[in-house]
Amino acid sequence: MKNDLWVEKYRPTTIKEVIGNEEAKTLFTEWIGNKKPLKKAVLLYGPPGVGKTTLVNAAAREYNFKIIEMNASDTRSEKAVNRIATPASSFTGLDKFSSEIKGNMLFLDEVDGIAGNEDRGGVNAVIKIIENTRTPIIMAANDPDLEKLRPLKKICLLIRFQQARIPLIIMALKKICEQEQVKYEFEALEKIALNSQGDVRSAINDLQGLSEEGKILTLQDTFALSLRNKNISMDETLKGYFAAKNVAEVASFLNSSDAEYDDLLMVIGDNVARRYTDIVELAKAYDYLSQADVFRGRIGTENWHLFKYFYNNLAQVAAVNPESYKPFEFITPPPIRVITLFWTKTKRTMLASICTKIGNQCHVSKYEAKMIYVPYLRLMLQQKNKTNTLIEWLKLTSEEVTFLTSLKMF
Ligand SMILES: Nc1ncnc2c1ncn2[C@@H]1O[C@H](COP(=O)(O)OP(=O)(O)OP(=O)(O)O)[C@@H](O)[C@H]1O
Ligand SMILES: [Mg+2]
Repeated sequence: MKNDLWVEKYRPTTIKEVIGNEEAKTLFTEWIGNKKPLKKAVLLYGPPGVGKTTLVNAAAREYNFKIIEMNASDTRSEKAVNRIATPASSFTGLDKFSSEIKGNMLFLDEVDGIAGNEDRGGVNAVIKIIENTRTPIIMAANDPDLEKLRPLKKICLLIRFQQARIPLIIMALKKICEQEQVKYEFEALEKIALNSQGDVRSAINDLQGLSEEGKILTLQDTFALSLRNKNISMDETLKGYFAAKNVAEVASFLNSSDAEYDDLLMVIGDNVARRYTDIVELAKAYDYLSQADVFRGRIGTENWHLFKYFYNNLAQVAAVNPESYKPFEFITPPPIRVITLFWTKTKRTMLASICTKIGNQCHVSKYEAKMIYVPYLRLMLQQKNKTNTLIEWLKLTSEEVTFLTSLKMF
């Protein structure tokens, strides 16, 4: 069960289950259903993780076609092409089908990979296949603008896919949570969906990564999500942040940035000494930063009313003296994210194990254990007053006790 990838487990098997991209779905269904078989080849293109491969397989199943997948090297070798395409071409083309299995379809997934890897010939080989076999051919690609694909595009029906809409992704995530019995905070699903930027695959992967162990998903868990931001790099976020002319400007910049709070906190900390050369200004900036850090810790799972203090302090860091701002080179060390993720992962595992123990002894769910019992347990352990019996009763290990007593957020 643990080894199952949810993206595979919940990969739609029917056209209907493929979310979003209604227009693309209709076009493709019409093509495969022979309503508009004007072209023998079709090219589905669009961003990753939106359901191109899934739709092809689901539609083929529904319309009784057998998909024969070809890969790059197949297209390069005439023998392979003949082996795959000839039996297929002995079936009739897209038009007159009557039997159960209507015939084969060649599927060349990730065709931009072929075109990208070969200096020439790759695309020509594909065109030759389209021209010389009667078998319908489906292709999928991410980058439709690739110069090398141009001759291909001319002879294909082009079907464009777009990023999936956020509410649809949230609904899909919700459904998976229900099936996997993951207890979730709605805001956490929202956060994952937003962070995915319309990539359903990565949203589902994030969901699994964050919730599989404890079967509990809180907004706090999503803080460790990587900044999967294709538009604004962390560099740009920092540039806008430090160059702003007053607190309001910094704050509005922070508001419009998609960067993760924890990432921001760390990366700002790394750069603040480069920004302020004046020692008094630097001291002030650190002061605000440490306040922001304190509030970040207190927010925990519930105290969202404290968020504004975290944000305000973070904004103040950049606005200590806007006049002294001179452009400087940022450090954005890649390990930050790794450290953050590692930390949360370990923390989550530890917490999950503690909640299981509490759950077993107190006959409560792990969710209740985490939300109601852990905060008290932590307090009791911190006061170190006759806690041995409790520790024994719950069968907590010494690492777990240390973990609980040093736990900042709750
Ligand atoms: N529209 C969708 N509806 C439901 N699930 C989806 C959808 N798109 C993607 N998924 C999920 O993401 C996984 C990957 O999707 P798929 O392989 O179809 O993406 P793709 O568009 O072909 O991406 P790539 O361009 O990287 O090949 C699926 O197994 C499924 O779990
Ligand atoms: Mg694909």
